[in-house]
Amino acid sequence: MSIEALEQNARLLRICECIFETGEYIASTVVEAEWLQTFGLELQGSALVLPSGIEYLDQEFIEQSLRDVGVISNLPHIQLKNCVESTNQELLKAISDEGIAGKVVLAEMQIAGRGRFGRNWYSPVGRNLAISLGARIARTPDDLGAISLVVGIAVASAIHELGIDVVALKWPNDVLLGNRKVGGILVDVVQATTPIDIVVGIGLNVGGGSSTEKIIDRPVADLLDYCGFPIRNKLAGSIIRNVYESIDKFEISGFRSFLEKWNALDALRDKTVTVSTSSNVINGIARGVRNTGELCIETNDGTTHLVNAGEVSLDYTI
Ligand code: BTN
Repeated sequence: MSIEALEQNARLLRICECIFETGEYIASTVVEAEWLQTFGLELQGSALVLPSGIEYLDQEFIEQSLRDVGVISNLPHIQLKNCVESTNQELLKAISDEGIAGKVVLAEMQIAGRGRFGRNWYSPVGRNLAISLGARIARTPDDLGAISLVVGIAVASAIHELGIDVVALKWPNDVLLGNRKVGGILVDVVQATTPIDIVVGIGLNVGGGSSTEKIIDRPVADLLDYCGFPIRNKLAGSIIRNVYESIDKFEISGFRSFLEKWNALDALRDKTVTVSTSSNVINGIARGVRNTGELCIETNDGTTHLVNAGEVSLDYTI
C-alpha cells in the first residue's frame, strides 16, 4: 500500500471514530463530505453523522444469544469495533503467544475490507455484517481446501435460521440468494501445518443492497429483502455458533460428513462452468465436489477434472 493510501486510511479511521464518539464530523471540503458518504455516513446539514434506522451491533446481545443456546463449550472472546480497515486484518494483528483460536472480531464498518483475489469488500456502516473468527483445527494440510466450504455451509445454516430457504453456495465460497451474491468468505491461513490456524472472514449484505450495487457496479442480493428487520445481531450470534460447531465437526469427521449438506446447497451442480487458473481454462459441467472439497468438472470428452479452490475464478451459466 502506498504512503498516501496508508495516510488516507489512518485519517478516515480517525474521522469515523470521531463520528462514533461525538456523533458528528464537519467535513473540510465538499469532496471530503461526498467521499465520507460513500462509506454510508449521512450528511445532516453540514455535519456527517451515523445513519439512522440501522440495527447497530450489540455485544451483550450476541454474547447472551450464545450463552442461551449453551452449545459452545468455550464462549468465544468477542471484540466489537466501530471502524476498522478489515476485521481479518484486526485478528491477524492480534496473533500472539496464546493464538487466535476462539477470538472473534466484528465491526460496524470496514474501510478496507478484503475480498478474494485482492479485491475490496464494501462494508458501509451498519449495512454489512463483517465478522472474522479465529480457529485452530487439528487436521492435515490436505484438508485446507475444504475449510471455506465448511464455513459456507455454516453461514447457510445461520441464514436458514432466519427463515430464508433460498440460500445456495457457489463453489468455493460465495453465498447466494436467488442467484445473486449476498456474501463471501475469505480464509486467511496463518499456519498451514497441523494444527491448522486460520482466520475466517465473512461478509454479508444486510440493508445496503441498492447503495452497494451503485458502489461496486454489480447486482447483489440483500438479506433484508428476504426477511424482517432486525436481524444483524441475531445473525451474528448464529454465525458464530454455526461456524464453531461446524469446525468442531470437521475436526472430528472431515469434509465427508458435510457432503450431503453441500450437495443440497450446491448452486453449480450440472451447470456449465468455466474455470480459469493461472495456467489454463477448463470448460465443462460442474458435477459436485470431492471428499477433499475439490470441484469436479466433466469436459466434453467425458474426462473429470478436479479443481482446487486456490487461485481460480469461475463463471457459470444459470
Ligand atoms: C469474497 O467474496 O471475495 C470474500 C469477501 C470476504 C469479506 C469479509 S468481511 C469480514 C472479513 N474481513 C475482511 O477484510 N474480509 C472478510
